[in-house]
Amino acid sequence: MTAELLRYIPDAAVSLLPDQERVKQLSAALNSARDETLNDIELWQSRGPIPKEKDPLDAAFIQWPEELLQDLEENKANSLVARIEACAARLRDTADSVVILGIGGSYMGMRAMFEALKNPYHNELSRAQRNGVPRIYFDGWNVDSDQQSALLQMLDQRAETAAGQSGPDGKTAVIVISKSGGTLETAAAFRTFRQLVEKHFGAEAASLIVPVTGDQGKLRNLSNAAGYRDIFSIPDGIGGRFSVLTAVGLLPAAVAGMDIRALLQGAADITQHFRSAPCGQNVVLDFTAIGHIFEVDHGMTTRLLSTWGSKLEAVGLWYDQLLSESLGKHERGATPITVVNTRDLHSRGQQHQEGRRDKLITNLLPGAPRFPAITIPGHALDQDHLNQLKDCPLPRVLQAAVDGTNKAYADAQRPTADILLPTINEHTIGQIFQMLMLATVVEGRLVGTNPYGQPGVEAYKKNMQANLNIR
Ligand code: PA5
Repeated sequence: MTAELLRYIPDAAVSLLPDQERVKQLSAALNSARDETLNDIELWQSRGPIPKEKDPLDAAFIQWPEELLQDLEENKANSLVARIEACAARLRDTADSVVILGIGGSYMGMRAMFEALKNPYHNELSRAQRNGVPRIYFDGWNVDSDQQSALLQMLDQRAETAAGQSGPDGKTAVIVISKSGGTLETAAAFRTFRQLVEKHFGAEAASLIVPVTGDQGKLRNLSNAAGYRDIFSIPDGIGGRFSVLTAVGLLPAAVAGMDIRALLQGAADITQHFRSAPCGQNVVLDFTAIGHIFEVDHGMTTRLLSTWGSKLEAVGLWYDQLLSESLGKHERGATPITVVNTRDLHSRGQQHQEGRRDKLITNLLPGAPRFPAITIPGHALDQDHLNQLKDCPLPRVLQAAVDGTNKAYADAQRPTADILLPTINEHTIGQIFQMLMLATVVEGRLVGTNPYGQPGVEAYKKNMQANLNIR
């Protein structure tokens, strides 16, 4: 049976458009942006000269999930997927904590997967309750001495307590991720956590530390010199924020016990859909069209991704980076904001309902819960009047909130659209990643902004290095 694809339902937004033909009129431009996006793959593969306006060109993420699945089919145990899974299994068996170091595109995607797909209290469960999956921590995504020191102290103590024992208890592994290999936040954190691993586990450090990096750069050189047992490459032609389905995201996901084949399959299914479905039935093109029309024709330059349930918040934060770094150029590009509802209905909601009319709201809906739904218990003390909701499942309460909020926005002529996940699992998370990456690139091509590269990020790095007197 083919797994269900996510759906994009923009009807409420479209009904507010003064000219509803506008969406259809955009089809020709969208089709040519799609063609350009797909043709860029060949341009990149030709390794010929890249026209100036297309440089950098990081189009290799588009067919990457399909390539990995094909490689798996053809090369089985020698495929990249199988090697990632084998390394992950080894880390799971040998370590009780895994610290994942990285920032930006080398961090946000795996955080999104971890929050969407793992038990929110994962690290507090026993090893047996975690099915042997290590505790997972993220660092290197900031410069925060207190936060890093708290994690170091905890891991140090665990190692001391378990000293002399065999097995994974008290043992920490490190996955360090940096495509350039020179990002200061990650590099500095790596020094610190590497020291911890080397101090406690000596020669075993070479197999407890796994770098994921580009084929060249400082981290690659260091990894070769250190002789780490496994080193994974981030392929050329896939930029940081488009790299979640490379070893960057797949290795941590596999360590966390996720089904990385399903992640890839979900993404590959969306690529296939993107190539073949016509405008009006194509989630990527339709999502792009609505964002573009409301921004360009109606001045809605803020795009709210309204995630229903905190599991999807980090997917939204990943998308914030994707959109900001890809299209926030030449003094243009919509501003993404992620909210979690119903939490933020009690904080930002007022502004969205009655503030400036500069927002397009897209609901990211989680679909059916993965686990049996909580129901509201009855009670002899009914002063809160909640016996009227006795046995009502929480997903029904959530749906009432979604519908009520959408109606309130519609009544106030505020545009909303829905992205509906069938449920939250590896297949649907792979889909949403690929859908949003493709939509971002198509939109870039539509408006003439190169979606790849992030030249604006360099300025702060240069100044910071100058302030520290380093190269
Ligand atoms: O999208 C990008 O390329 C950036 O956000 C990078 O991922 C981020 O700057 C981290 O870079 P690196 O992986 O080289 O350490």
